[in-house]
Formats: sequence, C-alpha cells, structure tokens
Amino acid sequence: MKKYLNSFKQIVGAQNMITDPFDLKPLNQDWQRFYQGKSELAVTPTSSKMVSEILQFCNQNNIKVVPQGGNTSFVGGATPVQDELILSLRKMNNILEFDTTTSIVTAESGVILQSMNDYLQTYRYQMPWDLGARGSCQLGGNIATNAGGLNVVRNGPLRNYILGLEVVLPNGKILDLLNKNRKDNTGTDLKQLFIGSEGTLGIITKANVLCAPIPEQRQVFFLELKGFDEAIQLLRSAKQFEQLGAFEFMEGRILQRCLPFNPQLKAPFEFKADKYYVLIEICGQQIELEYYFERLLKHTEQIVFNQNESELQAMWRWRESVPENLHKMGHVLTYDLSIPPDKFEWFAEEIYPERKGPYNAFYGHLGDGNIHYNIIFESVEEMHKEQERVEDKIIKLTKSLNGSISAEHGVGQLKRHYMEIQKGKETFGYMQELKRVFDPNNILNPEKLL
Ligand code: FAD
Ligand code: LAC
Ligand code: ZN
Repeated sequence: MKKYLNSFKQIVGAQNMITDPFDLKPLNQDWQRFYQGKSELAVTPTSSKMVSEILQFCNQNNIKVVPQGGNTSFVGGATPVQDELILSLRKMNNILEFDTTTSIVTAESGVILQSMNDYLQTYRYQMPWDLGARGSCQLGGNIATNAGGLNVVRNGPLRNYILGLEVVLPNGKILDLLNKNRKDNTGTDLKQLFIGSEGTLGIITKANVLCAPIPEQRQVFFLELKGFDEAIQLLRSAKQFEQLGAFEFMEGRILQRCLPFNPQLKAPFEFKADKYYVLIEICGQQIELEYYFERLLKHTEQIVFNQNESELQAMWRWRESVPENLHKMGHVLTYDLSIPPDKFEWFAEEIYPERKGPYNAFYGHLGDGNIHYNIIFESVEEMHKEQERVEDKIIKLTKSLNGSISAEHGVGQLKRHYMEIQKGKETFGYMQELKRVFDPNNILNPEKLL
C-alpha cells in the first residue's frame, strides 16, 4: 500500500487518510473481536465524487477495498481479511432533506442511525428500523446488510423502506438510483441488488428512506413464563394485536447471569433460572392498557408494565444488553438464524446438548422467527476447537428446517463457506455471476459473502 500513499493523498487529501497504526487498530477489528485485519490505510472521503475517484484508482491498480460504516457487523463484514484499503463513510454524514409531505428523508450514507432519529424527531418521524447498535451503525451499513432489529415484527424488513439509492460502482461510475416516488414500476428494480449486498457490489453513498411516524404512545409488558411452550402460545395471541410493536424473547438463566453486568438497572422481576421472559411492546395512537393486560393475563400472572418512560427504557435495556453481556460471560460462538419459532429451544439442545462446561444461550426476535443462538466457552482454545463441528451441525439442522443461516446480520466472513449449501449451487452461481458484472476485478469486499 505504501507505494500508493501519494496517489491517495492527491485524491482525498492528507486530512482524509488514516495511516497511524494506533488509529487504524479499531478499524482493523470487528465489534466482537473475532477478526483482525492488517490494513495500513483507511480513507474517509467527503463526497460521492471522491468515492468515485478512489474506486476508479483502486480498480485500475487492483487494490482491494473494504467499505466500512459503523463497524458493528456481527459477521466480520467490515473488517479487512488481509491489508485491503478501508473506505470509511464516516465523514459523509449530511442529512440532505426531509420532505414533510411524503415523509421521505434523503441523506448521505455515513449518518449514524441515532442521528437520523434525532433529526427526524422534530417532525415527529423516525427511521422505520431500530437496533441496539443505533449509536454507532450507519445508514449505509444498515442498507448494505438489510438490517433487521427490534421492530421488524411491526414494520417488516428494511428493504421495504428504501425508495432510492446512489451507489458508486467498483469502476468509479456513480449510479444514480435516487428516487422519491413511492410507486415506480419501470422494470427491474436495480437498487434492490445493493440492499443486503454487504459492500460486494458497490458503495452506497446516498439514500431516500420512507420514514415512520413516531407512535403517540408506547407500552412495554415484561412477562415471566414457566415454559418455552407458553412463549409460543403467547406469540400466537400477540400476533393478533394490531398494535404489536415488538416481541422479544430471553431465557431466565441468561438474564440471571446478566445481573452483575447491569448493576444500575432496575430489574422488572427477580429473574429465575428456570423461567422464560418475553418483552412485548404495544405502540399506536391510543393504547387501551386493560385490553392488552386482560389478554396477556391468560398466559401468565407474572406481568410487569412500565409506568413511565424511564421504566420503558430500563425494560428494553435488559433485552438490548444481552449481546454485550454474553461477551462478558466468556468466549462466544454466536449465530443468527431463521427457524420456526417453536423450534428455538429444541434447536439449542440439539446443537449443543448441555452436560457440563460450555452452555447455550439463546434470545432474540421470537416474533420474527429469528433466534440469536450462542454457545459460551470458558477458553478461547475450547471455542475454536468446537467451532467447525458446531457450525456443521447448525447448517445441516437449519437447512433441514428450511431456515436461514443469516436472519439479519448478513454473511460476511463468518458464514461465507456455507453459502452454497444455503442457497443451492444454481442460485449461488447466479449471485457470483452478478458480482462479475459489477466488479469483474473483484476489488470490493473480497472474501466476504460470495
Ligand atoms: P458495518 O459493520 O460497518 O458494515 C456492515 C457491512 O456493510 C460490511 O459488509 C460493509 O462492508 C458494508 N457497508 C457498510 N457501509 C457501506 C456502504 N456505505 N456501502 C456499501 N457497503 C457498506 N443487526 C441487525 O440486523 N439487527 C439487530 O438487532 C442488531 N443488533 C445489534 C446490536 C449490537 C449491540 C451490535 C454491535 C450489532 C447489532 N447488529 C444488529 C449488527 C449490525 O449493527 C448491523 O449489521 C448494522 O446494520 C451494521 O451497520 P454498520 O454501519 O455498523 O456497518
Ligand atoms: C440483537 C442483535 C445481536 O438482536 O441482533 O440484540
Ligand atoms: Zn437481533
């Protein structure tokens, strides 16, 4: 990379280059500290034109590039495999327009999700997706992963809300797919190819997003259940609620283990190891508390609901802090799968029958059939020893259930080797062919996804 430093300086300017190993360190590592890149240069362009010039130069000189947003990927998607150039979108963080008639926001792709929401709040709107990484993850990263999150059960997937994109292709061409028409049936919808493509086809630089109104009221119920089957019965009832905003699941034995890591956080219950917990959010213009309470009582008498905003936040915090707390419990193998909701508990025991030592921990978006399945090990050596065997079982079992090996986190480096099994040879072949159309020199995010 050293021989190219001067050329990059001419394109982006010294102020938009990171070469100090100390500053590069966090960019070379993923959030879970599972992957380690060796990049010697990160660039932080400030315009689409600059992104275009960078890619054109990289394409001509066969320099590999990793697009990086907030670097919160759970699958090593934004971490270099070798010494690729890191192209960080962090300085392209302008919100360009909010159209109050259509509720469409137009922004550069480096805007942090929380900043989008802070801006939209003035208009009583919000982004239609939400995730625990909201303080770091960016619009472009969310789109590139077709992020899921905490309210898919209500709003559906992110891709439903992306109306337009601007994308810079590996050859430097700026593809203008921006669009503010809610309806546009003029043939193949090219932008869909880039949503969820994990930075392998192009760099997303701008987007038009259809926003959602902020609900006038929100009510959270935290329920304690005696068995997993009760959680499924509850799901069947809650799916009927027109105002269902979220349906999240946690195991009591894991919440118990979270207690020491959340010392300041008021617990809605004295968590019990043999119980199961569900967080339900109801949101809308007017919420009839009694209506929901009565219906939920049919499933358990152990229900707590928030009395004010800070209690609501605290209940959500119990759920949102699970992933970071798991990493404090030990070394974690973590998977993000779509399987039938009623199979979650059975699946965990099938994959890793617990006797002693390493233990299963599962939680997640039960309302979407999206399980976050984890195994916690005491030592990193033990974890690595088990990884291949565990993954082999996971892919086979998930496949036999007609599930998906990535419900929402994407494929990245972690699941790349299982893509052919997941997709089937023919479909996977077409995906690779598409890659060759956009990126014939394979410079964008090599050794990820495809
Ligand atoms: P990065 O991690 O920087 O990149 C992700 C991928 O997108 C990489 O392949 C990268 O190359 C590519 N990319 C980034 N920006 C661009 C761009 N502008 N153009 C093209 N490609 C680009 N995910 C969920 O789906 N649901 C959750 O509930 C959820 N909760 C999370 C909670 C925590 C605490 C954490 C740490 C992560 C969570 N995630 C969740 C995972 C992660 O936050 C999402 O995948 C998120 O969408 C990634 O956004 P990012 O900006 O950090 O992207
Ligand atoms: C969550 C992330 C890990 O649901 O997807 O907390
Ligand atoms: Zn999740």
